[in-house]
Amino acid sequence: MPREPEDVWALADLAMPFAVRTAATLRVPDVVKDGPVALTDIAKRCHAEPDPLGRVLRFLVHHGVFTEPEQDVFGPNEVSDALRSDAPDGPQPWLDLDGAVGRADLAFVELIEQVRGHHSAYSAAFGRSFWEDLAHNPQLSTSFDSLMETKTHGIAPAVATAHDWSVYSRVADVGGGKGVLLAELLRSHPQLRGYLVDLVGPARNAARYLDEQGVADRAEVVTANFFEPLPVEADAVILCDVLGDWDDEDATLILRHCTDATTERGRVVIVEMLPDPQRMDLFTEMDLRMMIYVGGRMRDLEGTERVAEAAGLSVHDITPLDNGYTIIECLPSP
Ligand SMILES: C[S@@+](CC[C@H](N)C(=O)[O-])C[C@H]1O[C@@H](n2cnc3c(N)ncnc32)[C@H](O)[C@@H]1O
Repeated sequence: MPREPEDVWALADLAMPFAVRTAATLRVPDVVKDGPVALTDIAKRCHAEPDPLGRVLRFLVHHGVFTEPEQDVFGPNEVSDALRSDAPDGPQPWLDLDGAVGRADLAFVELIEQVRGHHSAYSAAFGRSFWEDLAHNPQLSTSFDSLMETKTHGIAPAVATAHDWSVYSRVADVGGGKGVLLAELLRSHPQLRGYLVDLVGPARNAARYLDEQGVADRAEVVTANFFEPLPVEADAVILCDVLGDWDDEDATLILRHCTDATTERGRVVIVEMLPDPQRMDLFTEMDLRMMIYVGGRMRDLEGTERVAEAAGLSVHDITPLDNGYTIIECLPSP
């Protein structure tokens, strides 16, 4: 992506992302959505202090977010509307500094120390790892599950149709979150039964979600840690957007436990975003986020094949989807 030398100031700016995220977290765009509102009222409704909030909003007005039709009265525009919490597929839940991902983004202040090899960013910023943080904070855990729900809604229908699921009778979605992909598979393939395997928090949300989706009679929620042998057996063990959260050693261990959980002639089905030469900006950003949030990494096909092979698997089939994801079907090596 070519740039001009004078772009560096804008590229390095920190004031804008923090101001936008502060306004989005406080839901100022929601408060002003119907027209201009006095600063004191906005502050009251957003549980904020009028003076610092006014300074944030004035800065944003001068950068094209919100309007200020009269002094200390702020109104909406198209950009602030895009930041409303009810904007369809909008960014607000991802930017919310009280939500799991918006909060994790704050760990970028530790990027320099992670690059210097001093410590991992998230633990340095918050005193424990991302997964420990979610385990200690149900609100964060639920917000993460709901972000993953949004993300997985975008890919589950393609995963359910692009692979031949008719040959299986039992699948296990390991690290399956709330169960969006499993519910889609069970709905699309009535012969399937499935396990949803995840940690306590997501597993709790999954039971309710699978029930709401009308597939609870063919689904079993199993609370388990994929760093230990999995207490399930399935013809296809699915890992969707899981391996990128981990370094090679951990990814290999997870894959080994998934391999051990397959029935004879079973397979491990990996669903991951692979690098797309047209979208390397997105892929490299995801790679940085994985490093900062969880010490993981995004992999190309060769990198995925390497961890699969280390776990005793060989890649049997590859199905690229048109959403940046690829289904990588692996069989236990003979
Ligand atoms: C990036 S999310 C992907 C969720 C889901 N597969 C999807 O695509 O929506 C990774 C999942 O791995 C789960 N996870 C993390 N550590 C785990 C562990 N040690 N054992 C089991 N699941 C774990 C998380 O709870 C989370 O649901």
